[in-house]
Amino acid sequence: MRIVRTVTEMRAAARDARAAGRRIGLVPTMGALHEGHLSLVRRARADSGLVVVSLFVNPTQFAAGEDLSAYPRDEVRDAALAEGEGADILFAPSTQEIYPDGFATTIHISGITEVLCGASRGAGHFDGVATVVAKLLNMVTPDVAYFGQKDAQQVLVVRRLVRDLDIPVRIEACPIVREPDGLAMSSRNVYLDAEARAQATALNRALAAAAAAVAGGETAAGPVLTAARDVLADAGIDPEYLELRHPDDLRRLDRIERAALLAVAARVGRARLIDNRILEVP
Ligand code: PAJ
Repeated sequence: MRIVRTVTEMRAAARDARAAGRRIGLVPTMGALHEGHLSLVRRARADSGLVVVSLFVNPTQFAAGEDLSAYPRDEVRDAALAEGEGADILFAPSTQEIYPDGFATTIHISGITEVLCGASRGAGHFDGVATVVAKLLNMVTPDVAYFGQKDAQQVLVVRRLVRDLDIPVRIEACPIVREPDGLAMSSRNVYLDAEARAQATALNRALAAAAAAVAGGETAAGPVLTAARDVLADAGIDPEYLELRHPDDLRRLDRIERAALLAVAARVGRARLIDNRILEVP
């Protein structure tokens, strides 16, 4: 596996791969790799000739006061893990390489970025995500880019981005990878002490309680959300949001017709955690 630091070198590698008829798969990450990230790398390895994992802790998607400086960083470990899954290139540029002096462009997507994490973290979060993802897609020119359903709103934002800007890439959304007790894997789980780690399992249990209500015939948002909220309350968690929204356009749902995205964000100990589940009417 090669470690690539510059846009020029990344473009050259992509050009050579394409000239050799290899399909390019990109897995964008901010590092601190875990099984969730690695599941995306395995998917990319299975269907691409050149697998690129990008590692860049993108400052523009962190609001002031968020965990940018504390965000876990261990490139040596990440490189070993990516290589172990068969990645061909670890693209690990510096901040200066991505945002050189004079950088002045921001991509803003309206509508779907104004709810859920866009409301709780501020609009700048998804501006930062959209801008850096557009740049990574332009630099790596992948045929397919892989994203986790763990960040369900991010997947919708990226799909909107590539459609609206005619970026020629297929976006693949991959299932959420969980710990044995159901906690969604996240780089931020390292912030949890033993007590918070136990408390954090309530997020997935709350989603499961709502899914059970829907499986039992409930389709009204109120009782479905209450089923989830009760589990959170028992664990002492007051969520930043807990909402039932349309899986495609994120409009708020009062009733589930066929399927709904149930999304939750909560501060647990020192971590801000998110999780979600698609609820389907039986
Ligand atoms: P990061 O949080 O490092 O996540 C990189 C990718 O891994 C994202 O697509 C995310 O949804 C996916 N992922 C994280 N945890 C997962 C899990 N438990 N199961 C499945 N997939 C999981 O998301 C970002 O970085 C950034 O916003 C980025 C897209 C790289 C732009 O900076």
